[in-house]
Amino acid sequence: MKSPTIQTLIISVFLFTIQTSLASPPTLGSVFTQCIIGLKPSNPCSPIQNFTYTPQNPKFLIILNNYVRNLRYFNNTTRKPIAIVAAADVTHIQATITCAKKLSLQLRIRSGGHDYDGLSYLSTVDFVVLDMFNLRSIEFGRKLDTAWVQSGATLGEIYYGVANKSNDLRGFPAGICPGLGAGGHFSDAKIVDAKGRVLDRTSMGEDLFWALRGGGAASFCVVLAWKIKLVPVPEKVTVFNVEAVGKRGGVNTKELVVKWQEIADKIDNSLFIRLTLSTSNKTVKASFMGMFLGDSSRLLEIMTKEFPELGLNKTECIEMKWIESVLFWLSIPPGTAPTSVMLNRIPQKQIYLKRKSDYVQKPISRTGLDAIFKVLLENENVTMAWNPYGGRMSEIPSTETAFPHRAGNKFKIQYAANWFVPGEEVAKECMSQTERVFEAMTPYVSKNPREAFLNYRDVDIGTSLNSTYEEGKVYGVKYFKNNFERLVSVKSRVDPDNFFRYEQSIPVPSSH
Ligand SMILES: Cc1cc2nc3c(=O)[nH]c(=O)nc-3n(C[C@H](O)[C@H](O)[C@H](O)COP(=O)(O)OP(=O)(O)OC[C@H]3O[C@@H](n4cnc5c(N)ncnc54)[C@H](O)[C@@H]3O)c2cc1C
Ligand SMILES: *[C@@H]1O[C@H](CO)[C@@H](O)[C@H](O)[C@H]1NC(C)=O
Ligand SMILES: *[C@@H]1O[C@H](CO)[C@@H](O)[C@H](O)[C@H]1NC(C)=O
Ligand SMILES: *[C@@H]1O[C@H](CO)[C@@H](O)[C@H](O)[C@H]1NC(C)=O
Ligand SMILES: *[C@@H]1O[C@H](CO)[C@@H](O)[C@H](O)[C@H]1NC(C)=O
Ligand SMILES: *[C@@H]1O[C@H](CO)[C@@H](O)[C@H](O)[C@H]1NC(C)=O
Ligand SMILES: *[C@@H]1O[C@H](CO)[C@@H](O)[C@H](O)[C@H]1NC(C)=O
Ligand SMILES: *[C@@H]1O[C@H](CO)[C@@H](O)[C@H](O)[C@H]1NC(C)=O
Ligand SMILES: *[C@@H]1O[C@H](CO)[C@@H](O)[C@H](O)[C@H]1NC(C)=O
Repeated sequence: MKSPTIQTLIISVFLFTIQTSLASPPTLGSVFTQCIIGLKPSNPCSPIQNFTYTPQNPKFLIILNNYVRNLRYFNNTTRKPIAIVAAADVTHIQATITCAKKLSLQLRIRSGGHDYDGLSYLSTVDFVVLDMFNLRSIEFGRKLDTAWVQSGATLGEIYYGVANKSNDLRGFPAGICPGLGAGGHFSDAKIVDAKGRVLDRTSMGEDLFWALRGGGAASFCVVLAWKIKLVPVPEKVTVFNVEAVGKRGGVNTKELVVKWQEIADKIDNSLFIRLTLSTSNKTVKASFMGMFLGDSSRLLEIMTKEFPELGLNKTECIEMKWIESVLFWLSIPPGTAPTSVMLNRIPQKQIYLKRKSDYVQKPISRTGLDAIFKVLLENENVTMAWNPYGGRMSEIPSTETAFPHRAGNKFKIQYAANWFVPGEEVAKECMSQTERVFEAMTPYVSKNPREAFLNYRDVDIGTSLNSTYEEGKVYGVKYFKNNFERLVSVKSRVDPDNFFRYEQSIPVPSSH
């Protein structure tokens, strides 16, 4: 092909563009953009249009994809937002709320984008994504006992910043994956409500502040920043990860799991031992991954007394700084990477995934464990992480914040399947394996309701298509138990028109 042909092509594309723009009505994206530009000008240094991406913008798909953490929800048939506003200040959030409301567009709020079922960037109707990644400042209190953290900061940035500022003497307990959006341990918040008002703890009212802690903020407002409490950590912590494939020492895996269930929620409050069950070479593998806020001699004393069957020995205990343990939990071998890798916002590997959750309140018997091991072997792409509760979790009343899963839980289960190749077939296989393991666990887990953990988002437990109270109650009592009704009443006070709604939001009462 020679250049004249290309020129002709360019000209005809040009003409086609002019014709279509003359012939067709403006896109919703451009109507939305006109609306936000038309509002009272905000900060002249950061005009909102510079932070707004419609599908015509060549960067649109890049911005959208930057914080998609489940490849299942990023393909050519996934419904895309009509616009993304990557807010750089509070006026951008206010403008987005005002115009989304005016144009009857749904809003999806995204911080780190790790929602397992993509509910921070998906919708079945026209919607706008309010992306918070530009709002990521972290300001430390003078005594380093608190920090104000904007909602787009990642956990890695918080962990790194806290350790750096405090010479490793403080930490912040939250998720494993450093790319997650901020969350956790709150003593105040700054929000933007459905009317576009900026509120703090005092002006929002204690009932809304209660709801924000565990109730899923996206049903109520946009969180601009959290004030978090930082906690003292010792100069050295001790970690370990030991595995039993079939057996460890002379003890078989099942007996180790029996003993773990007896001690994990009751052992010293400074010690956390997570158990992961998976399949390795047609055998069930149990991994015991531990974190102790103290040195290895004290850890070994505790383990020898409480869990001698595991046979943990000195060489398996690794002492390190708290900030280094963040990398250990990511399975990065000690000493092989600088702690600054946790500042990286781009995941090393993009994956397809499915997650589900459960709570276990009574120890599972040996017969039960036999049945569970069998089902795991039949569904070898599924792993289960058993996270002990007890400790501080059981000292906090279940009504203290909206997060209800407190005393009475021995452990929480995360079911996980990851895969790396596209296609409906493999997705279907991995999803149905997860479902089969989940079904097989029914006799051993909480009932009426079968409780679920909001952070492990799972659309299978119910979704709201019509925003009715009845639909919302189905998943609402699983995520929030008896706190659900109180969340509904907060919702009806702060957002009676149900502007902040999505597939698993808190509903307004049925009279609305
Ligand atoms: C790879 C990976 C690892 C994970 N590891 C852990 C772990 O170790 N421990 C754990 O507990 N969980 C873990 N999770 C789950 C994770 O904690 C939750 O998905 C959490 O909600 C992620 O926060 P985010 O800001 O990244 O998510 P997003 O997808 O941005 O948001 C999640 C929800 O919060 C809402 N939201 C986000 N920002 C705001 C805001 N500013 N105001 C109001 N609402 C908002 C969204 O609309 C959505 O409903 C992991 C998830 C992934 C994908
Ligand atoms: C906003 O975008 C316009 C057009 O791309 C550009 O000329 C201007 O410098 C930008 N303003 C700021 C503050 O970034
Ligand atoms: C969408 O389709 C185009 C071409 O048809 C392809 O190049 C691109 O990789 C696809 N994108 C996704 C996310 O599947
Ligand atoms: C494409 O994404 C949608 C969600 O938007 C999902 O339901 C569907 O399974 C995906 N298709 C493929 C081929 O992965
Ligand atoms: C803190 O971070 C700065 C900037 O990255 C770095 O130069 C400094 O060495 C760090 N200090 C500590 C104690 O980690
Ligand atoms: C798997 O188990 C078989 C039989 O027990 C053994 O021969 C083989 O070496 C094992 N493979 C691996 C990778 O451990
Ligand atoms: C500790 O356990 C490891 C196996 O996990 C073993 O290789 C090592 O010899 C043990 N060390 C001692 C001192 O028992
Ligand atoms: C499922 O597990 C088997 C055995 O480990 C493995 O061969 C297969 O590739 C896995 N499937 C996927 C989709 O990861
Ligand atoms: C929800 O709305 C759909 C159509 O949008 C309708 O078919 C369905 O019956 C409604 N379901 C409930 C429970 O109201």
